Amino acid sequence: ISKYDRFKQMPRFLPCYSRLKVNILGIETSCDETAVAVVSDGYYLRSNVVASSMDLHRKYGGVVPEIAARSHIEAITPCLEEALSQAKLDWGDIDAIAVNYGAGLSGSLLIGVLTARTLAIVFNKPLYATNHIHSHIYANFITKTDLPGYRLVKSAPEFPFLALMVSGKHTQLVLFNNHFDYQVLGRTTDDAVGEAYDKVAKMLGLPYPGGPSVEKLALNGDPGSVLLPKTRMSGYDFSYSGLKTALLRAAQKMIGESYDYPSVKLPARLTDKQKANLAASFQQAAIGALVEHTKRAYDEFSPKAVVIAGGVAASQPLREQLSKTLGISLDYPDIKLCSDNAAMAASLGYYYATNNQALADPYTLDVEPSLSM
Ligand code: KG4
Ligand code: ZN
Repeated sequence: ISKYDRFKQMPRFLPCYSRLKVNILGIETSCDETAVAVVSDGYYLRSNVVASSMDLHRKYGGVVPEIAARSHIEAITPCLEEALSQAKLDWGDIDAIAVNYGAGLSGSLLIGVLTARTLAIVFNKPLYATNHIHSHIYANFITKTDLPGYRLVKSAPEFPFLALMVSGKHTQLVLFNNHFDYQVLGRTTDDAVGEAYDKVAKMLGLPYPGGPSVEKLALNGDPGSVLLPKTRMSGYDFSYSGLKTALLRAAQKMIGESYDYPSVKLPARLTDKQKANLAASFQQAAIGALVEHTKRAYDEFSPKAVVIAGGVAASQPLREQLSKTLGISLDYPDIKLCSDNAAMAASLGYYYATNNQALADPYTLDVEPSLSM
């Protein structure tokens, strides 16, 4: 049969009102985490399984795409089995599959997408292709679980809301009028904020990923000790590459070396106190820009809520300073839902399914490594 006939025969999502829950199985493999989760009705977390290949990348100081892709192949089937067993469900209970098809590393995305396509065909399930960046924000829609050890937001944000999406690859401020009606107010013009954290960590001899280790070290430092230039950006855009270079120059100056002194040699020359001061000063500047832009957008658009998403949302000083500056008590998802996971895809997939958003063709869906919002 032709591709078109096949498409016509594909299962459609039909809301079934006799059933209490719509169970979406989410798959996420955009970087180094192989993740599968089941979420009911977009809010109820039934399982969340994440296998990370981080340990294999650590010695290289960053994710190696080929190693990540190979690890996904090994981990995806056990993760699927674990996600269904944790949710106490089988394939008959799953109403649809949502897979993050971009943005990310192409080899990594391919494993998740091919798995989702195969499952959709074999089990005859509707398939939804979700955007990784968009899905991060949906960690803020997960409000209930019976799984132990999760701190969830008390309620889903009301529209219109402002989302600060900050990760190792993205830094953007988005105004949501509805699930699918949003406006990207600003984004980074160079490095992502998490990427800057990772590079600064490397410069200070701290392990990858840099965010948590820089945050820890900054506790012993004085954030006002190193004067860093404020980047002037138009509108709501961000820039982090200048800040990272300014920090490198400050570190070289501290040890009395010239600007061509290699950054790899810095950790051995800097004292613990100097490292802590550099970490604290960098963190203050990095967070300062995020808070300042969010505050300006908050005043301009008067949203009903502000949410933070992505790996950098795990930052305690970011959460505190944002709450303080906005003058609101900022709710935030569990760290396990801030970093890469599949529950966020399953939650967003529910809104795709119930809002008649584009159904993906399991025979042709391709990855989109540079997908944006
Ligand atoms: O969302 P995520 O898990 O993966 C991407 O899609 O990028 O984000 C990972 C990023 C890394 O750059 C990591 O250094 C950063 O989040 N991160 C943090 C913290 N925890 C993780 N950045 C600042 N403070 C933290 N506590
Ligand atoms: Zn991510």
